[in-house]
Order: sequence, then structure tokens, then C-alpha cells
Amino acid sequence: MTEDLDALLSRTEAELAQAADLRALDAVRVATLGKSGALTALLKGLGAVPAEQRKERGAALNTLKSRLEAALEARRAVLEEAALDARLRAEATDVTLPARPAPQGLIHPISRTIEELTAIFGAMGFAVVEGPDIEGDWYNFAALNIPDHHPARQDQDTFYLPGETDGRRTVLRTQTSPLQIRTMLAQEPPIRIIAPGRTYRADHDATHSPMFHQVEGLVIDRGITLGHLKGCLTDFLRAFFGIATLPVRFRSSYFPFTEPSMEVDIGWNRRTGELGGGGDWLEILGSGMVHPRVLANCGLDAREWQGFAFGMGIERITMLKHGMADLRPFYEGDVRWLRHYGTSPLAPFTLHEAG
Ligand code: DAH
Repeated sequence: MTEDLDALLSRTEAELAQAADLRALDAVRVATLGKSGALTALLKGLGAVPAEQRKERGAALNTLKSRLEAALEARRAVLEEAALDARLRAEATDVTLPARPAPQGLIHPISRTIEELTAIFGAMGFAVVEGPDIEGDWYNFAALNIPDHHPARQDQDTFYLPGETDGRRTVLRTQTSPLQIRTMLAQEPPIRIIAPGRTYRADHDATHSPMFHQVEGLVIDRGITLGHLKGCLTDFLRAFFGIATLPVRFRSSYFPFTEPSMEVDIGWNRRTGELGGGGDWLEILGSGMVHPRVLANCGLDAREWQGFAFGMGIERITMLKHGMADLRPFYEGDVRWLRHYGTSPLAPFTLHEAG
């Protein structure tokens, strides 16, 4: 190539090396290969070259053109890659960052127990029902075969409220058992429900609170026997406490709304407080076969429908499961206690299969 062409090539190469981005690169391209570019001007001047030099000059210009094009392309590739890198860096998502701030609150042990027992009974086909805390005394007592002067009314230290519902006194429910009545009146058997909720009694010490929680259970179907009651509650207790071999004992008892009635004990060690063995028994819940009079109060014929019911204290089973001695902190809202006994809302819970 002649000197002027060499000069154009090296000048352009220097400009390309300087071009910091694609826009600068394009400016170099226009200044060289564009309509009024330096090379284009040289090509246009070819006609003025004496005929005997024209062939050689033409070939030299063609060589220069392809070298310039190659240099432009090489620089373009470098700049495009750099641009892509910069974009990827700018748009990068740091997947190691937490998706959301760590949850601050914790699930209260009472709520946790309700979640757990709902999961266990849910797996057995039970549905959850709820009812009012302020109850008519027919639902809380009379329909459950606890007539007006029955001693069970005194047993329960009832909070009576001013006013009446349907000509009857109004109470803060002393038990979740009225949900048995409400459910049997509201739906046709077969019935399989649990009813966790608040209950109230005028009683206050280390193991009693005027407001506490119970869960009621009710099964109504044809051909239900004591065997179903025993199997269901044994499975529940073993799953809830996570002890596949937990000893469970059914002891004859009395409740007005069941016949026969049974209290259920679990095995523990009185000295160490450990559940499972040790040869001592701890009463944990009340249960029985639904009394024919209760069925009749709900319009069910005891010759056709049978069932069992049970009720237990949620604070009590929570305290036993977690080794808590005092019931009062449940309601004091002390964050130090909650931090210790609360569970993360995202913590999975494993339900132990009863063996
Ligand atoms: N309602 C009883 C109580 O508060 C507990 C209870 C016992 C509920 C036996 C039942 C049952 O459904 O069958 O002490």
C-alpha cells in the first residue's frame, strides 16, 4: 500500500483503540467508511488516477478497505462484550440475599398447640368448628344433661352475665362442650369435629386461669363403640407428645353428658416429670360415649346414632409437652418468655406417627 493508505490505516487503528464504547466506534466507522468518509473519498478519487496506476491503486484500496472493516469488527466485538458484562453486573440479582427480612414475631405456645392438634385430628378426618364465648345456659348446661340444680353447675364456678338469651341465663361458656350441641343441631351425622376455643371459670392460681382454652371432640355415626374412642385418643396422645410407646390408660369416671364416661391418663415419672414411663399416671382428658339423652336433646335417635366425645385443657397439654410449671405466663405477654417458648411461624412441625 502507498504511504497515504498506510497512514489512514494506522490512524484509524489508533482511533479504534481509543473508542471507549459502541457509539465512539460508530463515529470512527462513519469517518472512514461512511458516505463522506476518508476511504470513500479515496475510492471516489480512483477515476482521476492515471490508467496505468489505476489497477494497482484499486487493489491497494480494496485491501485497505477489508483491513479497516476487520479492525472495526474486532473492536466492535470487544466493546459489545464489555457492554454485556457491564449490563449483567448492573442487573445482577444477589440470590444470596434473604427474600424478605427475617420474621420477628413468634407463635404463642397456645396457638402452636391448637395448630398441632388441628393437624393431627385433621389427618384423622376431623373438621374444626367454632362457637360463641357468650353462651346460653341451655347449650352450656341443660342440653348437656346438666339440669338446673345439678352439682356440676357449682363445680364449674360459672361466670353468669346479666341478661338472657331465649328466656335463659347467659354465661361465659365454662367448657367447649356446648359445641357438641350446636354441631348436632346444625348438621346431620356422620359428624367428626373438634372445637378448640376459650373457656371461662372463676378460678385463679398457678394451674388455673379465669380464661383458658379447651378442645372438644365429637364423633357421631352408626356403630361407634368404645373401641373407636380408645383408638382415636391413644393415637392422638402418642402423636401429640411424640412418644410412640406412650402408655395410655382409660379409667372409669363420671360426666353428665357421657355414659359410660372415662378419664384418660398417660404414663409419666412423677419424680422427674418425664412423660412416657416411670410407672405413674397423669390424668389428661375427659371422654365418654355420648349420653342418649344428649343425642335426644339434639333430635338424634340413640338406637340409630352413637358417638363419643372428649374434652381437654389446651394449657395443660402444652405445659406437659414443654415442661412448664406455671400457667400464668401464658397470658402475661412477657417477650422474654415468648422468645423462649414461642415458635417461628416458618418452622416446620413434624408430626410423629403413633407406632
Ligand atoms: N367438658 C368437660 C370439662 O370441662 C370435659 C369433657 C369431659 C368433655 C368428657 C367431653 C367429655 O366431651 O366427653 O371438664
